[in-house]
Amino acid sequence: RIQKIDAMEILDSRGNPTIRTTIVLEDGTAASAAVPSGASTGENEALELRDGDKRRYGGKGVLKAVRNVNETIAPRLVGMDVTRQQEIDRFLVELDGTETKKKLGANAILSVSMAAARAAAAAVGLPLYAYLGGVQANRLPVPMMNILNGGAHADSSVDFQEFMVMPVGAPTFAEALRYGAETFHALKAILKERGSATAVGDEGGFAPKDLRSNEEPCRLIVEAIERAGYRPGQDVAIALDPAASSFGDRGTYRLARSGEGEKSREEMVELFRDWASRYPIVSIEDGLGENDWEGFRMLTEALGDKVQIVGDDIFVTNPRFIRRGIAEGTANAVLIKLNQIGTVSETVDAIRLCREAGWNYVVSHRSGETEDAFIADFTVAMDGRQIKTGSASRSERLAKYNRLMEIERELGPAARFENPFRKG
Ligand code: PGA
Ligand code: ZN
Repeated sequence: RIQKIDAMEILDSRGNPTIRTTIVLEDGTAASAAVPSGASTGENEALELRDGDKRRYGGKGVLKAVRNVNETIAPRLVGMDVTRQQEIDRFLVELDGTETKKKLGANAILSVSMAAARAAAAAVGLPLYAYLGGVQANRLPVPMMNILNGGAHADSSVDFQEFMVMPVGAPTFAEALRYGAETFHALKAILKERGSATAVGDEGGFAPKDLRSNEEPCRLIVEAIERAGYRPGQDVAIALDPAASSFGDRGTYRLARSGEGEKSREEMVELFRDWASRYPIVSIEDGLGENDWEGFRMLTEALGDKVQIVGDDIFVTNPRFIRRGIAEGTANAVLIKLNQIGTVSETVDAIRLCREAGWNYVVSHRSGETEDAFIADFTVAMDGRQIKTGSASRSERLAKYNRLMEIERELGPAARFENPFRKG
């Protein structure tokens, strides 16, 4: 049973405040969880409560959310059985009472929800992945590693936010990570030779300012894959997250950083069709804006049989939007972010919907992260075949990858790992 709940303000990987909550049980077990924070957030995400007091952190403090945990949530949850995750989450949702969790803050609510899961796992003596996923939780995900950052995550000259490598041909998770890290190092050498900057963006990928087009990163990454000794497509493939909501919506896209001008949704779909025919692209996330359901549908129709079409900002991990997407053929996969919806149980519901529809799902970090590796365990628990948690640099990204290597080692011969795109 829960004896004490204590939240505090900590800093995320961008130096902005976020919340960490610790739950102590009557038997002395204690567990903490910290929530991440996005930069290119979807407009329908659950609300991240910030103080708005300009004298502290430019208004980004989270002392109100901390107070909501310590003064409003804590007294009501003390004495509750911590293994009743669904009951705890339902209680939190009802206590808040708003559609977007704006009263208590989704950051406050999620920190309690995640800490409860962790405390329960510790109390029953199981690793978090086994507690949430049961004995059959033994699949390691293929990492989507964002090795070139643009858009809202870097001061670079590309409009598209994320150029990722996916080591789809690796035999194990640890080997996949090695393929990805070696490709990252090869890309660094290539950038150095060109005289480009090799400083990294928010998710640990390079963010050079002298790229001449949105397409150039694809060329450089193929070169890096080859230089690292891998076969583009077979060993290491490319995944994209343009995060198109950040440069357009409702059918018009302005590629200002690269100077490529304005594109209609039809032209965007054509651009992706063309790229997919020339580069080993296996996944495109948010190729169109969060309100461009029609553009999404067109892209899925054009490429969905060959390429995974992932909705992030358009679905915001919300069962309501995912249901509409499934009905309309909007995509064929969903990006899963716990803090877009705000509780562990609702996130599990979103994943269940994907599974029932035969859609893929990708558990994801945020661009503002902490050292908390909750999503590593969570993706294994959910039988996730893909995880997106940044490049092979910045310890808040590596915390997740290192935890996955630990899980793979702990599972030993029971661990499964396979290419999520292999047919048949
Ligand atoms: P965010 O970006 O965490 O800044 O929202 C990640 C993404 O768009 O997938
Ligand atoms: Zn995204």
